[in-house]
Amino acid sequence: MKAIGGVSIQTLAETYGTPLCVFDEEVLRQKLSAYASSFRSDTLETGVLYASKAFSCKAIISLAKEYGLGLDVVSQGEMYTALAAGFDPADIYFHGNNKTPAELDYAIAHNIGTIVVDNLAEAELLADKMSGQYKTVRTLLRINPGVEAHTHHYIATAYVDSKFGISLLHEDEIIETIRTLQKRKNIIFDGIHAHIGSQIFDTDAFGEEIRKMFAFADRLNTVYGIPVNTVNLGGGFAAAYLEEDHPTPIPEMCRYIISRCEEENKKLKEPVRKVLIEPGRSIVAEAGFNIYTAGYIKKTPGKTYAFADGGMNDNIRPALYQAKYDAFIAGKEEQEKTVEYTIAGKCCESGDILIDSIKLPEIQTGDLLVLKSTGAYGYSMASHYNKIPLPAVVFAAEGKSRIVIQRETFEHLISLEI
Ligand code: LLP
Repeated sequence: MKAIGGVSIQTLAETYGTPLCVFDEEVLRQKLSAYASSFRSDTLETGVLYASKAFSCKAIISLAKEYGLGLDVVSQGEMYTALAAGFDPADIYFHGNNKTPAELDYAIAHNIGTIVVDNLAEAELLADKMSGQYKTVRTLLRINPGVEAHTHHYIATAYVDSKFGISLLHEDEIIETIRTLQKRKNIIFDGIHAHIGSQIFDTDAFGEEIRKMFAFADRLNTVYGIPVNTVNLGGGFAAAYLEEDHPTPIPEMCRYIISRCEEENKKLKEPVRKVLIEPGRSIVAEAGFNIYTAGYIKKTPGKTYAFADGGMNDNIRPALYQAKYDAFIAGKEEQEKTVEYTIAGKCCESGDILIDSIKLPEIQTGDLLVLKSTGAYGYSMASHYNKIPLPAVVFAAEGKSRIVIQRETFEHLISLEI
């Protein structure tokens, strides 16, 4: 692969410098369009919310808006970015297990459409804030359905201690929380939300989540007289990082979820009207590439290191989750992969390894090393460790590139210091 979005990797590096985060805008558009066109039903209203935590900036939010998606935000900073991008606040869903009083005030003041309430204490605070308030806010309640999905399997136990939402095992608390919201006329209780994990390959885990969510919606209605208008299933759909990763394609995944929802909805006394999903990673991961310049090559008795001019400060995922990435050397795509390398970052920490072991053609200092599928939770989780400025972010499409986030300067780095 010589180019991203039709722009040669060499040109991107020369124009913007390295380390550089590049998004293939065509891939972003394909993913957004696949969700927008496939997550549809004849019997249910549907909505796709982009989980902006995966990568939040005005450019990606504008794209999400262009394709008619809603937005999942989880902090005032993400709300602020969305509003700065001109996103309609009515289509924003505000999540989080510990929304501060100031954040709730901000959300109310800026007419954020839906607040996804996490717990009883938050419901009480929101009810207080809405008393005497002329505005109306819609709410969903985050519940924990006990489908804890990991990469290839799911465990239906051991979920009572999650920090997110209220466990289905604590039904009394769920009812008390909903009643607290319903006490205020200007708080609409609209339905339930869950999110069962991330990078989930196993479609059955979502099937199980759907079964539990719809059954619970029915129970809320028939046992407690609480109608459920909306079921939000969260995100978690896997992306491909390595050649051996084969996530269910977006259209197929959407069809599966819709058909399972339609099936379950038929069993309900009072059907649910609307279903939402919140993909983050599966929209942005595969579109992203991190371009580094190779520095020194160092041999130890057991390893050959190639050092990158970035590292855990721009991509914490390998160090934090032992996440695996694939990579290539720009211009050496056709060459035989003869050397086993460890790709290490430049941070002052032994754990700053971007790729533990990868076979590549021989690397020379100055070569451009490109990590694939870096678009999700890379830039968004970047840090200033070792006072390394954040890289620039570029979108490339149809042979043209545009900068969407400037490279941080050293002046930026100390700009808040007194
Ligand atoms: N909705 C809710 C409520 C969430 O908590 C998340 C992700 C999503 C949607 C989007 O999930 P996705 O489709 O991106 O899997 N930093 C970790 C991932 C953390 C995910 C947190 N919640 C990583 O780099 O793997």
